[in-house]
Order: sequence, then structure tokens, then C-alpha cells
Amino acid sequence: MLLGQAGGTARQLPCDRTRSLQTSEIYFGGASSGLLRTAGRMHRSSLAVPTILFERHASEWRQYGQGQSPPSDALRARSRRSRAPVPHISPLLYVFAVFVAVLTLAALREQVLCILYVGGKHAEEEKRLLGTVENALGLPDYCKKNNIELVVTADKEGPDSDFAKHIVDADVLVTTPFHPGYLTREYIEKAKNLKLAITAGVGSDHIDLNAANEKKITVAEVTGSNVVSVAEHVVMSILILVRNYTPAHEQIMRGDWEVAAVAKAAFDLEGKVVGTLGAGRIGFRVLQRLKPFDCKELLYYDYAPLPEDAAKEVGARRVEDLKEFLSQCDVVTLNCPLHEGTKGIINKETIGYMKPGAWLVNTARGALCVAEDVAEAVNSGYVLSGGDVWPKQPAPADHPWRSMRNPKSGGGNAMVAHYSGTTLDAQIRYANGAISILDNWLNGKAQLPANVIVENGDYATKAYGQREKK
Ligand SMILES: NC(=O)c1ccc[n+]([C@@H]2O[C@H](COP(=O)([O-])OP(=O)(O)OC[C@H]3O[C@@H](n4cnc5c(N)ncnc54)[C@H](O)[C@@H]3O)[C@@H](O)[C@H]2O)c1
Repeated sequence: MLLGQAGGTARQLPCDRTRSLQTSEIYFGGASSGLLRTAGRMHRSSLAVPTILFERHASEWRQYGQGQSPPSDALRARSRRSRAPVPHISPLLYVFAVFVAVLTLAALREQVLCILYVGGKHAEEEKRLLGTVENALGLPDYCKKNNIELVVTADKEGPDSDFAKHIVDADVLVTTPFHPGYLTREYIEKAKNLKLAITAGVGSDHIDLNAANEKKITVAEVTGSNVVSVAEHVVMSILILVRNYTPAHEQIMRGDWEVAAVAKAAFDLEGKVVGTLGAGRIGFRVLQRLKPFDCKELLYYDYAPLPEDAAKEVGARRVEDLKEFLSQCDVVTLNCPLHEGTKGIINKETIGYMKPGAWLVNTARGALCVAEDVAEAVNSGYVLSGGDVWPKQPAPADHPWRSMRNPKSGGGNAMVAHYSGTTLDAQIRYANGAISILDNWLNGKAQLPANVIVENGDYATKAYGQREKK
């Protein structure tokens, strides 16, 4: 499958020679861990030492026009050296030099570490499952063409994991929010070469962004790549909860037929007040999709007001106080990033501001909610809750959100695994986008501003909290 801008050409070196390294092996480093490593083999003809020197300083050379000299003394010295007459070298010395050159070249190759979930037979059956270890976002082809060393693994937890091992040398980390490689401060400190962390999707809270800033690591995501996918899932989850769909469906699967048992907790969405906490790309699209349902009112809570025409288009009213916002909504949908200002924003106290019997849908991030407080509120019948995001992913088998239920209806739980933003349509978009970000970095091109979360030691987006510009 051809993936967007996946550049198919080998990198052209300034000395007008193409380094002809070929990726010729793909081997599995343990099927159970899902580790896949692409190793390179080099043509002997390309191993001249000047190629290495030019390659190392390619970025400096590129800043100057053809024929112009870069200012670096080291490069001038090297240029002078490369013009000097070639002394006679014994064959043994030549072999040794080639050997050293091979090792040096291998050490200079960029390394991309990619953390994805295992697709198993599903990835075999469906090649469009690009977010899996097996299909690896289309990166194997791209990396092969661009002579990048690629490590793909699902094994991400603990000090002996592939993630812990390979982050030490990686230049670039690629991961998705669906099976996130948690790039903690500790890992960032170990990652001596890391320059770029790409989120194939939207939401980069799995990275300690403050620690990334301290190390001047760029964090970029594929902004907008799955916002419609999520907005559709939000509307679906709201309807599933409001109409008490899950127990009604379970009843049918069991072979039962008892209308009263499910109708007693089913309502219309029409006439209800629905509010989104966060009215960015997803929140706004949720409001757009809710408009035809003739809700009583659409509200939003966000420190960044919607542009006037956008607010008018959806007919949404902004509420600036969280308590007031929550207390007016029949349905609350969470659509803001996870950061210091939003972590645990839905907790025992703020749930108390909500109307009894209100519906809560969280497709933003699990840790926006205090898990036990939400579970307790559902189990006591105070609220009903759904969504697809969990505080830690994969969620443990005994997580309280798996089994919480409304005591009266047996429903009130519309939780699923994190998949709203990973439809097959979304996967092609974020796979292409991740490769495009990698390609920009490799070729020294600027990233799309909307994709950049942190860069040059500072936040490049206003969505991760209100903070002073450095
Ligand atoms: N479940 C999924 O598959 C999935 C997919 C994509 C995104 N997401 C989540 O949804 C989030 C939002 O995505 P988006 O594309 O709409 O992002 P966005 O940047 O377009 O919008 C986020 C909005 O949240 C607002 N916000 C930030 N902090 C806030 C706060 N304290 N209170 C109120 N509003 C606040 C921002 O001002 C912004 O308007 C992502 O960060 C991600 O965590 C989930």
C-alpha cells in the first residue's frame, strides 16, 4: 500500500553520491513480544570515508548553495583532506578501514522506535489495520527506502521491556494513544539521542511534555486525523446511554423479551441540555452533530471561546464556571486534552455538581476522571457513564469501569476499549501523517504548525493548559 508522502528516494548527499544502503532483512526478535526489527546491509562500493563525513554534516552543507563552502573549520579541514593525494594503502589496512567505516555508518543511521499493539490474526486478515505491530503504520517501507533502522514492538511495560531497552538509542519515537509507550521523565533521561516523539493520532499526554521541553525534544501529533471518528463515537455513546441500549441488546442476546425492563430507563435526547468540556476540533464537531437532535440547549466550557461564527453555527452557549456548567447539563461530554489543569477534573466533588441521573461520556482521556469516583457514582445510580479511554492502557482486567452498572436498570455503562479514534478510515490518515512528520524531520523541513505540541523547549499549542510563553 502506498502511504501518502512516504518519500521513496534514497537521500542525496551533497557530494552528489547516493549512499546505496539497502534494507534487506526483516527479522522477528520474539513473536510473543511482537518485536520486529529491520536491519540494513551495506554495499561495499558506498563505504568511502568521505561519504560518512559529508553525511554527518549534511545539514550544515544543505544550508549553503551548491559550490559554496560551509563555515565550519572542521568541514574545511575535511574538504582539504579529501583533495590531498591518496597514499598507498595495504589491502589489509583497506579491509580494516572498510570494517571501521561499516561500523561507523551503522552507528550514524537514524533509529526509529515504534510502539504499537499486536494485531495478530486480525492484522493478517485486515491490512488496513495500520496501527498494529504487523503493519507498523507503513513505516517498514518508508524506513527501508530511507535507510533508517526501525524497531517495532508492543512490549512497553517495565524495565526489561523492549521499550525500555531501545529508547536508550532511539532518535525518534513513534507511538499511538491506543497502545501508548509512556515516555516518562525517567525514560526521557535515558533517551540520549531522542529528538522527536511522534504521536500517530491525537493526544500526547503519554509523554511527559515538561521533561521533553527540558531536553528540547519535539513532540508532534497528527492533528485532526481522527476528530470526526471520535465525534461520531461520542454521539453514539450518548445515544447508547440515554436510550438504555446496552441492557436492551443484552436481553435480546439472552433470548429474553421484556420491554418494561429496558423502557424504564430509556429517554429521548431531544429536549436535553448537552455540554462539552473542551470545544476544540472534537468538541465542536460533537456540537455540530448534535444540532439536528433538537436538544434543549448546547453548552460548552473552554478557556478558549469558540469563534463567533462557529458558536452561532451550532447555537452553543459558553459557560465560564465549571460548577455552573456541570450543574446545567443533562449530558456531559469530555473533549479536552489531559494536562495538569484537567487531570482528575471529574471527581467526587465535581460529580456532585452534576444532576442526578446525568450521563457522562469521556472519549478524551481516562485520567480526566478519578476512576473510583466515577465507578462509585455509577454503581450508586447517581450518573451513567461511557467512553473509550482509560487511565492506563491496556486497562487491567479488574478495572472498576469494566463492571460498574446502574443498580436499577443494570445498564449505565457504555465503556469500550480505546478505539473511537482508530477506525480504519482514521488509521490511514494518522499513518500517513506520522510518516509525513518523520519525513519533514529527516529532510530538515518545518512541521505543520498545527501538529506541533512542544518544540525548542516550549509549548507550541494553547490546548495543553493556560501558561505563560517562555
Ligand atoms: N478517544 C480517542 O480515540 C481520541 C482521539 C483523538 C483525540 N482524543 C482526545 O481528545 C482531545 C481533544 O482533541 P481535539 O482534537 O479536539 O483537540 P483540540 O486541541 O482541537 O481541542 C482541545 C480543546 O480543549 C480545550 N481545553 C484545554 N484545557 C481545558 C480546560 N482546562 N478546560 C476547558 N477546556 C480546555 C482547549 O482550549 C481546546 O479548545 C485530545 O487531546 C485527546 O486527548 C481522543
